Amino acid sequence: MITLALSKGRIFEETVPLLARAGIVPAEDPEKSRKLMIGTSDPQLRIVVVRASDVPTYVQYGAAEIGVAGKDVLIEHGGDGLYVPVDLGIGRCRLCVAAPRGFDYASAVRRGARLRIATKYVQAARDHFASKGVHVDLIKLYGSMELAPLAGLADAIVDLVSSGSTLKANNLVEVEEIAPISSRLIVNQASLKTRREALMPLIDKLEAAVAAAAA
Ligand code: PRP
Repeated sequence: MITLALSKGRIFEETVPLLARAGIVPAEDPEKSRKLMIGTSDPQLRIVVVRASDVPTYVQYGAAEIGVAGKDVLIEHGGDGLYVPVDLGIGRCRLCVAAPRGFDYASAVRRGARLRIATKYVQAARDHFASKGVHVDLIKLYGSMELAPLAGLADAIVDLVSSGSTLKANNLVEVEEIAPISSRLIVNQASLKTRREALMPLIDKLEAAVAAAAA
């Protein structure tokens, strides 16, 4: 049995068509069922439904041999024990610094001001500002980062931006892109050695599905 870790929502929805191209159909829709372990049309493949930020942990410890995780989540996890063979090209967005409209971010950085940055992406934010030599106080949040500058908790945020409508609705503007984001196939490094015959055909099929979807 191979276990694939997926998160509900956009990643699940965008992974299903890739699985279909590989001839695999989940037995249930996690949006409708409350089951967290679901079978597929392949009797040797099952899916576990976990929080997006928990996918690398399941795969790192081998509770799932493979998974799908956003680059944002992988940066925070650090990638220990993981092999990342395929960029699935789904869940595309960007990790950005955003600040209230009217806040002169560039000049605050030039002046060497110490910025208060609210984010769920502490590791990515720390790396980004350290590489620029900008001093920041990082404030860890678990969601609704856009509220932090409005409420006076932070000067700016580091968050994912897709359409930009959440920023706009909260009077924020993107002031810097940190990294383009997409979802990756991740594989437990040890399983790849011990269960290569079972895993490689699946990895190859998913890679071919990505190429076909892009064509
Ligand atoms: C993400 C992100 C932003 C929003 C950006 O949140 O944190 O809030 O999407 O999308 P937009 O640019 O198209 O408006 P998500 O809905 O994934 O939930 P989260 O707050 O749990 O991260």
